[in-house]
Amino acid sequence: MGRTRWVVGNWKQWGLRPAAHALASKVAAGLEAPPAGLRVGVAPPYLALDTVHAALAGAKVVRFAQDAAAQEEGAFTGEVGPAMLAEAGVEGVIVGHSERRHLLGESDALVAAKLGCALRAGMWAILCVGEPLKVRTAGRHEAYVLAQLEAALAHVAPSETGRLVVAYEPVWAIGTGRTARPEDAAAMHAAIRARLVDLLGGEGGDRSILYGGSVKPDNAGILAAAPDVDGFLVGGASKDADAFLSIVRTVAHHTKAHP
Ligand code: 13P
Repeated sequence: MGRTRWVVGNWKQWGLRPAAHALASKVAAGLEAPPAGLRVGVAPPYLALDTVHAALAGAKVVRFAQDAAAQEEGAFTGEVGPAMLAEAGVEGVIVGHSERRHLLGESDALVAAKLGCALRAGMWAILCVGEPLKVRTAGRHEAYVLAQLEAALAHVAPSETGRLVVAYEPVWAIGTGRTARPEDAAAMHAAIRARLVDLLGGEGGDRSILYGGSVKPDNAGILAAAPDVDGFLVGGASKDADAFLSIVRTVAHHTKAHP
């Protein structure tokens, strides 16, 4: 049995509660039980978590949030910590998404603190890494992504990384309709894999590495077949239940064929 595969929908800052409930209901109704070795997750906006969880009742879907505070609690106005999220039924968080790094100014140090806090709270934590276009054009993408990875893992012990998932999301592919070529995704995933093993030892070989960036039903098959691609973090297509379920089915077929 290989590494766990994942398909996780990141709903970003879209939709009010009725729309979120309707989307989750459609996902729950259409989701076939995922095969062993595949986990399906959704990350709705915070204020829709309860209505989405109600719509998902009984469905095998891992409940994510899109972010979490870098500390358990304290005088941090506006922040939501992992214990608060767990109380709301959340099982995992996304950390270091490029929109938070590049649009909202999150530093490597903040991402590292958030990652450590989430993992120590027993959450799944999807750590996002990925290079902007000008970095790729300059040929510095691998060094850039590996530096992000190293910085994020600087303060976590290998024994704390059992629920770590890495997502490679090239910034130029997010929301643009441009995906990485499968061979480029595979090359970056192999580099991430090697660095994870350097940093975490045996644990690093077991961690799932997802691809994100304009994943759609029509490109999911070719990307899922790329070596070291253990599934997807899906943005835009996850807002359409049929598209999301189609991507899940593609990865489910792949998981059954290559367990
Ligand atoms: P898109 O699938 O819309 O490109 O977004 C990817 C993403 O940012 C997932 O976290």
